[in-house]
Amino acid sequence: MQPSSLRNKRSTASAPAKVILFGEHAVVYNKLALVCAIDKRVYVTVEPLQNDTIEIFSDQYNALEKYSLKELDIFRKGDRYRYIRKAISLFFKDFDIKSGLRINIKSEIPPASGLGSSASVSVATILAMMDLFDIKIDYRKVAELAYKTELSVQGIASRTDTAIATYGGVLFINGDEFEMLTAEFPLIVAHTGKEKSTKLMVEKVRSLRERYPNIVDRIIDAIGEITKSARDKILLRDYNLGELMNINQSLLRALGVSNERIDEMIKIARKCSAEGAKITGAGGGGCIIAYTRKNIEEVYRGLSRVSNFVIRTNISNSGARIESGDE
Ligand code: MEV
Repeated sequence: MQPSSLRNKRSTASAPAKVILFGEHAVVYNKLALVCAIDKRVYVTVEPLQNDTIEIFSDQYNALEKYSLKELDIFRKGDRYRYIRKAISLFFKDFDIKSGLRINIKSEIPPASGLGSSASVSVATILAMMDLFDIKIDYRKVAELAYKTELSVQGIASRTDTAIATYGGVLFINGDEFEMLTAEFPLIVAHTGKEKSTKLMVEKVRSLRERYPNIVDRIIDAIGEITKSARDKILLRDYNLGELMNINQSLLRALGVSNERIDEMIKIARKCSAEGAKITGAGGGGCIIAYTRKNIEEVYRGLSRVSNFVIRTNISNSGARIESGDE
């Protein structure tokens, strides 16, 4: 496809952030996960360039980087924009397209925070490219390409983050399958102030599992059982989920993905009468979630004293969507 046919076109798509309610890490070993989208989004605008350059700008890094089409898959130490470059490369291969592109990313999601910014950016980029190149919008394909992107950048990944960034709402992930649930409750999300690396945390659990397979497999199984129980409760509209969150957090601690800062924030949330609090995502930094239906203000204020990024959010039913496409 020649970019000349798209000379005046540009397309913007967005995708939501996510929080994992239950089951992170265990889901990598084919256990279950419960995840929901929240009302923070990433917006990606894509426009064609008349040369072979991919220009990427993100308001969060305030950095413009340029790559030739040949460099899309070559990652050097400290490189930015790995997910977005991989997503473009896989998309081009899949649809047999070659084109220079200018990509502009506006994000309400802090990077490396456990809120799924890499998945959201990959999903929004792929959807915007589908629109730009007049390919019939296919959300299954979006989720699939975004998952392949995570898999090749991280080496190991579940479908959790990319599925929720594509479909929004609440998803119960079971391997390659997922079930859409409905639920309504508020959540408080607070950042530890430390970026996390999903890749490193996933490797940490893998290495622990290699050293103590019998023990770690039991922890992973127990996390799977917690997730199953949480799903059963949600199906019955029983939102007493705090206790299960606290047990899940203790098991994540046992897997070695919590740390002093996370433990301290969780303690504060519980002192302020949160029903439950846990890591959300890979751990090692990033965000925690606090669950409370009655003491929102108290928990919000308590966590705001120790964190610069605390949000009150609801579940968002809006998955990835095209925001605009101009001629
Ligand atoms: C990261 O948000 C969740 C993990 O379970 C990794 C994955 O599912 O790919 C830690």
